Amino acid sequence: MLPNIVKHRDGRWLGRALSILDSIDAFRGGDQDLALQVGDTLPPAEKLWDNHCMDISHLTLSTCLAEAGVSKIVYALVMPETEATIDAILGDRSSAEREGYRSAFREAWTQKQDRVHESFFDLWLAWTKPIVQLNSQQFPHRYPISGASEGLREAIHAYGVQARLEGFEPAIHVFEGEYEGYAAYARAAGIGLKTHRRSQWRQAIDETKATDQWYLSQPSGIDGNVWDDCDSFVGELADRVPNAQIMLDLSYVGCVARGFQVFADSPNIAAVFFSLSKPAGMYYHRIGGMWSRKEYPGLFGNKWFKNVSSLLIGSAFMSRYGVQELPRRYAPQQQIAVDSLRQQLGLNLRPADILLLAIGEPSKPPSDLERFLLRGPGEEALVRVCLTAKMAHQIDPRLSPHVQARHYEKWTS
Ligand SMILES: Cc1ncc(COP(=O)(O)O)c(C=O)c1O
Repeated sequence: MLPNIVKHRDGRWLGRALSILDSIDAFRGGDQDLALQVGDTLPPAEKLWDNHCMDISHLTLSTCLAEAGVSKIVYALVMPETEATIDAILGDRSSAEREGYRSAFREAWTQKQDRVHESFFDLWLAWTKPIVQLNSQQFPHRYPISGASEGLREAIHAYGVQARLEGFEPAIHVFEGEYEGYAAYARAAGIGLKTHRRSQWRQAIDETKATDQWYLSQPSGIDGNVWDDCDSFVGELADRVPNAQIMLDLSYVGCVARGFQVFADSPNIAAVFFSLSKPAGMYYHRIGGMWSRKEYPGLFGNKWFKNVSSLLIGSAFMSRYGVQELPRRYAPQQQIAVDSLRQQLGLNLRPADILLLAIGEPSKPPSDLERFLLRGPGEEALVRVCLTAKMAHQIDPRLSPHVQARHYEKWTS
């Protein structure tokens, strides 16, 4: 057994911390690696606490969430429909479906594989028609990508290259609490990041230069909801700083049951990214697309260097299920998960627009667990929890016999 090493400020998680540490294999410390094995001799408690206070707290709180079947980071929900789609594409060994699947990879010299991504983009436009207004003539460059992240990474690096060639200082703007990938890729590309309070978006426009880029998710990764001021922000930025570019991330379109609209045609929206990771529960199939007004030479080859299996599966998913169909089907499961979580953790939560998330106002002052889950700035911050593990288990325990999320690795560069 490990000794009692965790001294938490309010002592509330002490007992849990001990049970976690009994079972954990290893975790990374702040300034040095710290591997804990059951039965290890540990550094003195005070030293361990000083050096690794944040990490132990992180570990403790994320385990508390895991025990309740939820997580701080957002996981995709593999639904029965996700798997049925894959089965339909693959078919049985000697079925017509399997033969069609095999055939999709043959005879590359005919270039028939081009049709796979072309029809994928057409299908996405038709699939999202109730929600997204995007004139494909205005976005002549369409790149199949391995999830939205490949396009985001390429766009950020290409922006850095453009700045070097044209001799300006690149700056990427985001709202506080946005998807952390934007910041991570900006850091990796050596591009400065400016964060703003979303409620003060008018002031954020004052601080935007003509050569700057904005990265924005709608529905929003900040609070899991459709951001009502999105169009006003985009329009006012177009009026006041017309050359500043918006890079619009629609990764959560397809995760929302209620109707809403996204107008992607504003002239300052330079590129639009989408993904089937979350709406289809196909995260590890890496299916996404990027629409762009200008060419991205680094992605030109993606029409060949693409994953045909993933595109076929993604296309089949969009043909089988409407863009709001599954969020509507599973909204009751989201509500059940939220209700049980409120009881289990005493958090003041409600379902977010995005099916996989619950949100709520923190108490005053926030508890440690609430503080751990806060997204967004200062007094605007909301508690945001991912319900995926719990919902998967509710929908079909065979999909997820284990509801405990593993401790996640923080995104570093
Ligand atoms: C808002 C947002 N955009 C993009 C991504 C990247 O996801 P993927 O590359 O799987 O599409 C994520 C992942 O969580 C996300 O939350």
